[in-house]
Amino acid sequence: MKQKQLLLVAHAPSDNTLALVEAVLRGARHPDIDQVEVTWKKPLEAVPEDVLAADAIILGTTENLGYMSGALKDFFDRCYYPVLDLKQGLPCALYIRAGLDGTGTRRAVESIVTGLRWTWVQDPLIFKGDWQPAFLEQAEELGLTLAAGLEAGIF
Ligand SMILES: Cc1cc2nc3c(=O)[nH]c(=O)nc-3n(C[C@H](O)[C@H](O)[C@H](O)COP(=O)(O)O)c2cc1C
Repeated sequence: MKQKQLLLVAHAPSDNTLALVEAVLRGARHPDIDQVEVTWKKPLEAVPEDVLAADAIILGTTENLGYMSGALKDFFDRCYYPVLDLKQGLPCALYIRAGLDGTGTRRAVESIVTGLRWTWVQDPLIFKGDWQPAFLEQAEELGLTLAAGLEAGIF
């Protein structure tokens, strides 16, 4: 059976956010899952072809100045129209690392995802406040949920 493609487009400018990326990848690469390939692309390096090849997408960003990272915004700026007609319904999820808030970023990404007509697999995760090791467990679970859902054909 052809492997399903899970794409992670995540900005990771710090040790903590890099650990979040690694946790998502670890979850998606759970040993029981063998029909899903997960790929991490930094937002500035992701291109429309990556999205076109994806069967599901996880977005990850920091909150900066009340908004998503400029890197993730650049990803949307470059990829929005090239994928708009072809990827409607793409299963997606989002996590945000925010110092204290995260709502502005959530609203902004939700509005773009609405425009793209992607389908939320679960509510966005907002990892806010002081850093907690539990964030990594939730990020790992997110990767596992998406990969397991893809493998099982749930979405
Ligand atoms: C320039 C700048 C602006 C920021 N703006 C916000 C903000 O508006 N809301 C918020 O919750 N956190 C904000 N933060 C905190 C970042 O989200 C946080 O530092 C980042 O997610 C990295 O987290 P870490 O320190 O756990 O690695 C800002 C950080 C920087 C450097």
